[in-house]
Amino acid sequence: MNVGTSDRGGVRILTLENPPVNALSFALCAQLLPLVEAASADERIKGVVFTGASGIFSGGADVNDFSTEPTPETKTIRDVIDAIERSEKIFAAAIDTNALGGAFELALACDYRIGTPRARLSFPEIQLGLLPGAGGTQRLPRLVDVQEALQIMLKATRLTAEEALAKGILDRVGDDAVETAIAVIGDGRKRRLSERKAILPKGVVPQALPFIVSQAHKMVPPEGKGGYAAHKLVDAVEAAVTLSFKHGLAREFRLFDELVRSKPSMALRHVFFAERALSKIPGLAGAHATNVAQAAVIGGGTMGTGIAICFADAGIAVTVVEPVDEQVERAKQTIFGMYAHQVQRGRLTQEEAWTRGRSVRFTDDYGELKECDLVVEAVFESMDVKKDVFAKLDAVVKPGGLLASNTSTLDIDEIATATKRPAQVLGMHFFAPANIMKLLEIVRGKATSTDALATAFAVGKKMRKVAVLSGNAFGFIGNRMLFDYAREAVFLAEEGVPPYRVDAAMKAFGFPMGPFAMFDLSGVDVSWHIARARPDVMTGRTKIVDRLYEMKRLGQKTGAGYYRYDKSKGGGREPIRDASVEALFAQEAERAGVAQRSNVSDDEIVQRCVYALINQGAALLEQGIALRPGDEDIVYVYGYGFPPHDGGPMWYADEVGVKSVYDAILHFRETLGAHWQPARLLEEIARSGGTFAAYEAKEPAHA
Ligand code: 3HC
Ligand code: NAI
Repeated sequence: MNVGTSDRGGVRILTLENPPVNALSFALCAQLLPLVEAASADERIKGVVFTGASGIFSGGADVNDFSTEPTPETKTIRDVIDAIERSEKIFAAAIDTNALGGAFELALACDYRIGTPRARLSFPEIQLGLLPGAGGTQRLPRLVDVQEALQIMLKATRLTAEEALAKGILDRVGDDAVETAIAVIGDGRKRRLSERKAILPKGVVPQALPFIVSQAHKMVPPEGKGGYAAHKLVDAVEAAVTLSFKHGLAREFRLFDELVRSKPSMALRHVFFAERALSKIPGLAGAHATNVAQAAVIGGGTMGTGIAICFADAGIAVTVVEPVDEQVERAKQTIFGMYAHQVQRGRLTQEEAWTRGRSVRFTDDYGELKECDLVVEAVFESMDVKKDVFAKLDAVVKPGGLLASNTSTLDIDEIATATKRPAQVLGMHFFAPANIMKLLEIVRGKATSTDALATAFAVGKKMRKVAVLSGNAFGFIGNRMLFDYAREAVFLAEEGVPPYRVDAAMKAFGFPMGPFAMFDLSGVDVSWHIARARPDVMTGRTKIVDRLYEMKRLGQKTGAGYYRYDKSKGGGREPIRDASVEALFAQEAERAGVAQRSNVSDDEIVQRCVYALINQGAALLEQGIALRPGDEDIVYVYGYGFPPHDGGPMWYADEVGVKSVYDAILHFRETLGAHWQPARLLEEIARSGGTFAAYEAKEPAHA
């Protein structure tokens, strides 16, 4: 970490050098501050250019610093900006690629901002449960109007150089930003944003400000549902208009300080780091990832089509093997429709859409897969069918080609026995819709080589997926935890809690949909098949799933499942409470001797469903199926809609207190039955007064 200094004809160039993203850490700011002060005191100097080393301006404040308590000696971006504000020199920011958060704020404190064509400016603070806390909420509304500033900060908009230039945020764009900045300083003058007034949108009178502010408050989620920071951000921007610059800054700082210490921000920062830890896998550092130039997908059904789109979007040519003509037609229409929609929305050019569309080919001949580097199988969920496919693939695909299965529940090791290359067999479990959902579970069989894993991770990165390593357990990480969550939801309904109430409680907790709406979306037939395959995992007390299956109430697709669906309402996707299903639950419960309860609180519903996730999460860690609690959190945040401001189930367990979760589970065991057996790891952590976060610091069990 260092700040490079050099002089060019009366201009001092200060280069931020703090790999990997030139974060403006407390330590870097402590170096930068005296350099700014020295330049300001140097009579030979007309101005100062800030730039970043290694092709990036800066990723902003160091997120790690937010977890350390500053001392009176600590220097922050705010101190550097104050020194700029006090100086009579002319400052310019020369921005290549990213200027994020505090780095964007540093640039706003400068008199001029110059970007290369690759410059990207944004305020990602809101994604960390924060607001721009180094003057951004006060300076941006003095450069663009209040409404636009709010949009940019609330949506964490990533402005391109072109957009920033058009909005007047960048003054110039040039291939050599430093050279341009030096030239600009030559003829420049002081232009402090702090001396300007905040800008109201055209045609808006000052009296209308309360309306703009109240609209902004309405636009963002409620405080307890992920909007905690957003409301404070709106308050800070309001201060930019109603208070003096100095008082606005003080207000911003107070709000920022509250947010840094807030639970939602700590949880979101955990998600940020947990996501970046995913690819750090013991033993994988020296592994060699093969370049995947040619891929194939077996099965052009729901998942196969989505996976083919993922390859095409990643610039990898893909051949889809699908024997049924109707399915081929449907897949082509899906792909065509999806790209046409993207072009319509301005997300892709027509040319790019053609290129991607053309990179997907269909065939029914396995012989065409000889040269494939990676094949992802997505045929029916049947071990016999999959083994047959893998044997065929093993015979035709070149040696070294990877064979992956998208199975949701089947044993990767058993699938691998159908081949002579078990080291090249693994799971790549996509989530539906595969081309939209960011989560990808990469499943390691007992023989899977580290090179194969490295290749799968590299492909996941190209597809912009969030890839999580899982051991080969039934349901892997996500679905294995989900089975226990689902069990509790069904048990609650058997005890007389109507499905709509279970769903409402889980939605109030923060899930985008409740468990029963989710069962109806994925299909009651899917639950039925899983329950038959693994009755030990999908423990049921009643025959409710069998009954619904026999009645062909398979969920949304048949217009009825746990709910009714009406095509004329919400396109047949809106769950409508169905008293007949509640009666069916009561009947089945009576037959199975499950006592009815009238006193189940919403808290109990949430605890039983969420603690079931936590308990299984602990068991999977103990078994080495999941590497880290953070990996499980990421699976739940990205794959199942667990509220990110609660950090994922394992982070949430720490927040509630692992001991409280453990005690509740013991109570459930006593009152609800022996299926509530606390996982050994949960018990250990509870007894020692520890946390899952601390477990994270230990050597992972699964290497
Ligand atoms: N602080 C600390 N570490 C950071 C960081 C930051 N702001 N930004 C990135 N990193 C670290 C990552 O943790 C990762 O570390 P690792 O190699 O040990 O895992 C490494 O840098 C590389 O990060 P990525 O894997 O994300 O690399 P990419 O090249 O894909 O992306 C990036 C680079 C676009 C800069 C991306 O990392 C990013 O978006 N970072 C977050 C930036 C951010 O949120 N900044 C705002 C901070 S809050 C702030 O500035 C407050 C201010 O208002 C006072
Ligand atoms: P699907 O029924 O929509 O598609 C399967 C396709 O495979 C059909 O088009 C069929 O004609 C084709 N097929 C069958 N045998 C074949 C063979 N021998 N060679 C080539 N093609 C063959 O099924 P879906 O939903 O796409 O599921 C596929 C796999 O993905 C399953 O293993 C499933 O468990 C898994 N999965 C499904 C998810 C979902 O939400 N649907 C989510 C994640 C995984």
